[in-house]
Amino acid sequence: MTNHSITPSPNNPRVELINQASLQPFTTFGVSSTCDHLYRIDEIEELRLATQYLEDPLILGGGSNILPMGNITRNVLRVELKGIERVEETDEYALVKIAAGEVWHNVVLWAIDQDLAGIENLSLIPGTTGAAPIQNIGAYGIELSSVFHSLEALELGSGQQKDFLTEDCRFGYRDSIFKNDLRGRMVITSVTLKLSKQHNVHTSYGAIQQTLEEWNIKDPGIRDVSKAVIHIRQSKLPDPAQLGNAGSFFKNPVISASAFEDLKKQYPEIPGYPAGNEVKVPAGWLIETVGWKGKRVGNVGSYAKQALVLVNFGEAKGEDVWAFAQEIIGSVEQKFAIRLVPEVNIWS
Ligand code: FAD
Ligand code: EPU
Repeated sequence: MTNHSITPSPNNPRVELINQASLQPFTTFGVSSTCDHLYRIDEIEELRLATQYLEDPLILGGGSNILPMGNITRNVLRVELKGIERVEETDEYALVKIAAGEVWHNVVLWAIDQDLAGIENLSLIPGTTGAAPIQNIGAYGIELSSVFHSLEALELGSGQQKDFLTEDCRFGYRDSIFKNDLRGRMVITSVTLKLSKQHNVHTSYGAIQQTLEEWNIKDPGIRDVSKAVIHIRQSKLPDPAQLGNAGSFFKNPVISASAFEDLKKQYPEIPGYPAGNEVKVPAGWLIETVGWKGKRVGNVGSYAKQALVLVNFGEAKGEDVWAFAQEIIGSVEQKFAIRLVPEVNIWS
């Protein structure tokens, strides 16, 4: 591949190639790890060439949902395309097309400035817009799927553009077709959202209402909701710039209603939230109940304010985090017969 025209040169500032690149500055866990070749690309035609000619690359956005382990003997392609455009307008909504490399939180702030509603509850989620559909990012009662319109992607190998509408993406809780049938096969280049000009704010989830009441805000707008979400998140989630982490390490398990009833007989205080006909149990509660919350082994721990977030105290390797995660999985399975599944993408 290196002889091809995407080879970086002084005449081609749109591609930067770093050989034996450290992934530490490019991933929020901050574990030491390298990859053979890291390509940073901010232009669509160069990206198309890369998808055609790079052998089986791993795709990197903001690195906030990845645990790299050891030295990765693969090409890594960092998508840095930029741009936000209003592509369609009605009285009710605007369609907004966002390039994959735009930082998600900047998009949220941009939408609020444009008086467009729908993503304010997703404030301060780290990472890029191109990664948002991969696990259908969600927080505070809203998932990306509720405002998603479509996306464009390049197919690895052929370099062909593929368009996906909502129904093609098979969105679920922390899930999409891109984590299943199409895992590692598409590079998302843009995401189009349908944002509303009518503001129906969602304040019922978590501590949003309580925070707004404390601030004496009676008729909240989208900016108030965003500020409340930012405040809540900053009070309980570690800032990756201070303490390496990738947010929730595990997904919240979804179990059958009857399994939940059985658990409730043994543990009357177990929390559970309806998820269709099933029940979502907070993994943070399971981890706290088996005693891992705030515990540290070497350079890895479970965060003291949020058990579901595993943290790197500075010198941890990916393998150390993974070993710690296995201990938690084992303890939770032994006590509750529930097997936690990582939300974080493991690169090895
Ligand atoms: P990366 O970590 O770089 O990649 C994640 C996955 O997407 C990888 O499999 C990668 O190969 C793939 N990918 C990335 N870009 C592309 C692309 N353009 N095309 C194809 N595949 C791609 N998530 C939530 O849902 N809700 C939360 O509330 C939340 N809170 C968080 C809080 C903290 C402190 C942290 C550190 C993380 C949190 N996360 C949360 C997880 C994370 O922010 C999201 O998963 C985010 O979408 C990851 O974006 P990224 O650009 O960093 O992706
Ligand atoms: N809980 C505990 N102990 C803890 C943490 C949580 O008992 O240490 C229990 C409590 O009962 C609490 C409940 O879990 O009421 C829910 O906690 P929280 O509101 O903090 O949310 P979560 O279920 O732990 C999920 C997402 C987060 C998202 C928040 C807010 C997953 C895997 N995680 O966390 O997303 O920000 O809700 O909507 O669904 C991420 O995906 O990286 C992420 C941070």
